[in-house]
Amino acid sequence: MSVDVLLGLQWGDEGKGKIVDYLAPDYDIIARFQGGPNAGHTIYHKGKKIVLHHIPSGIFHDNLINLIGDGVVIDPVTITKEIQSVEALGHQIKERLLIAEKAHLILPTHRLLDGAYEQAKGTNKIGSTLRGIGPTYTDKIARRGLRIGDIFTPHFDEKYKTLKAYHLSILAHYDYEYDLAPQEAAFFEGIETLRAIAVVNSCYYINNALNNGKRVLAEGAQGSMLDINYGTYPYVTSSNTVSAGVCTGLGIAPDKIEAVIGISKAYCTRVGGGPFPTELTDEVGEAIRQAGGEFGATTGRPRRCGWIDLPALKYAIILSGVTELVITKVDILNHFDPILVCTAYEYDEITTDALPYDLERSDLKPIYKAFAGWGNDWELHTIPDNLQQFVDFLEQELDINISLLSVGPGRDELIEMSKELELD
Ligand code: GDP
Ligand code: IMO
Ligand code: MG
Repeated sequence: MSVDVLLGLQWGDEGKGKIVDYLAPDYDIIARFQGGPNAGHTIYHKGKKIVLHHIPSGIFHDNLINLIGDGVVIDPVTITKEIQSVEALGHQIKERLLIAEKAHLILPTHRLLDGAYEQAKGTNKIGSTLRGIGPTYTDKIARRGLRIGDIFTPHFDEKYKTLKAYHLSILAHYDYEYDLAPQEAAFFEGIETLRAIAVVNSCYYINNALNNGKRVLAEGAQGSMLDINYGTYPYVTSSNTVSAGVCTGLGIAPDKIEAVIGISKAYCTRVGGGPFPTELTDEVGEAIRQAGGEFGATTGRPRRCGWIDLPALKYAIILSGVTELVITKVDILNHFDPILVCTAYEYDEITTDALPYDLERSDLKPIYKAFAGWGNDWELHTIPDNLQQFVDFLEQELDINISLLSVGPGRDELIEMSKELELD
């Protein structure tokens, strides 16, 4: 069997958690391949809201395996809390949650470094979630990181002390206050939790599963515009969020990937710093934020809001070889009229749908097409004409099939577009 991929096409928070939870019954294994607790994937389960940071969003389907792959960075403290909150809802983790042995560990000092680096940046902050993601991937690339497999070796404590000493020597150069002792105590408690979880070689595990006919869904974190290579650098995260990251993050070959399901909101949000050409800094942007509850699932920060950006989506579709599209939060736009769609950018006297190298250039102007609002007087089995026109336009411009429209946070608040629908 092959691997399907589900990933965000914008700057994250597109609703990946909800859609993975919905699609999960079609699969045997749900696997995260990159990122770490900077992710916040919201699911409504039995009327309760839960935000997952490392654990794949298939965890509430009891017959599924959920794998945290090699490309992920893991914070033992956060994952312990997550496991407790999933178990509190009556779902056992044992033998259903697997962790890849080559995934890297986030140390308390990684979080401190994240904070010190951001503080030192002054006005040009990346807006990191401060979960230690950048410093952990830095150590991975610099070949001095600690991995999950290390916690089972006799030299773990020594390796920890060596890396911690290195981090403290860097922190000494920063005017940054911290209290490490309580964080360290929680870290070592978390290490004990991890020691009790099944650890696998994800390359052998996934490939054997595929050879045995199992179906795998790889769940992306963050979004394509936050990719370390192709996003709005340096305002990005530190991993490959595009579909290529699935291969390096799970240990599978490119020919194993089949469907690539891309997710976009019907509008656009971004949390943290960096360019956002279609951002609305006026009362319309504020109204979207309030209607959409656009506040970070991980940090609670207000998300910046704006109109959907087709040049950016076209780019993300190319980058990941997206084969179908899911549009979320369509219901939020029920309250808006007109609804704008950015079709191109204008700068330097040219109009183009290609992203310029410098997305922050001051002369860059988004070109919009306006659509009449569709109001809120409609039900799940009908699509108002104005919404249908919006959907048709996106499909035509992006040259891709929209398979699902999400119209609410609940698992079943979805319209499957392949099903026959009554038009108003
Ligand atoms: P993720 O990081 O991509 O999983 O997305 P987040 O969980 O960070 O943010 C998406 C937010 O939108 C969450 O609060 C979801 O419950 C909510 N959500 C997802 N899809 C829809 C939708 O179609 N309509 C509405 N109103 N809310 C949605
Ligand atoms: P999910 O998976 C939205 C953003 C941060 C910051 C930048 C770098 O829920 O979509 P980092 O902590 O990685 O150093 O932050 O990336 N960011 C996210 N924005 N959703 C996320 O994850 C994000 N993870 C990181 O806000 O701008
Ligand atoms: Mg999120």
